[in-house]
Amino acid sequence: MTDRPAGEIEGGGAVRSGAAGPPGAADILITASQIAQRVEELGSELGHLYRDSVPPPVLVGVLKGSALFLADLIRSLGIDAEVDFMAISSYSASSGQSGVVRIVKDLEGDIVGRDVLLVEDIVDTGLTLTYLRRSLGERRPRSLKTVTLLDKVARRIVPVPVEYRGFEIPDVFVVGYGLDFMGRYRNVPDLYAVRDLARLANDPELLVGPFFGPEPTVRT
Ligand code: PRP
Repeated sequence: MTDRPAGEIEGGGAVRSGAAGPPGAADILITASQIAQRVEELGSELGHLYRDSVPPPVLVGVLKGSALFLADLIRSLGIDAEVDFMAISSYSASSGQSGVVRIVKDLEGDIVGRDVLLVEDIVDTGLTLTYLRRSLGERRPRSLKTVTLLDKVARRIVPVPVEYRGFEIPDVFVVGYGLDFMGRYRNVPDLYAVRDLARLANDPELLVGPFFGPEPTVRT
């Protein structure tokens, strides 16, 4: 992170204070309204970029995390567009093949000669995006660009082009707006930084009550 004023993140407005209890379990990082505003900006920019595309651009969502972002982004483009999805799987470090990615679900459509926009929720090490860009690039699209909601630059291992991004975030574990912990919390509207990941790993339901309970403490 650079010398931005405390409480701000690149690409977004001021970070709203607020913690999801139990005390200190997670802190709000980007609010739903900040996300909505930024997605509108990106949609407008990308709609302008692809306004003369014939046939229309193909937005490729990378399952599962990007689903919410893609759904909002495509509605803010203001132009005709198609959607397709890929799902990938990473081999774990314990397999001795850390960073090796394989396709679990491939595109249904042909992208030869198409303008392709790869839609990610987060770029972390860059290994997944590097693999996906290579795989899609080999299929001879007319153009290939990436938009990611979140860019965790501090964690990058492989330099990879990211043409459009919503927010640069620090090296924190994030849940909400499509991002999960063990499959949970994707449908939390705001983005939260988990303060103690080990604590959440010991109790994956730690944030269920605060986020979804009868008297949630996270929405103000
Ligand atoms: C996330 C994200 C990217 C990848 C980025 O997917 O959607 O695809 O990790 O990480 P990298 O830059 O270190 O390769 P995840 O594996 O969490 O799957 P999910 O989207 O289904 O939650």
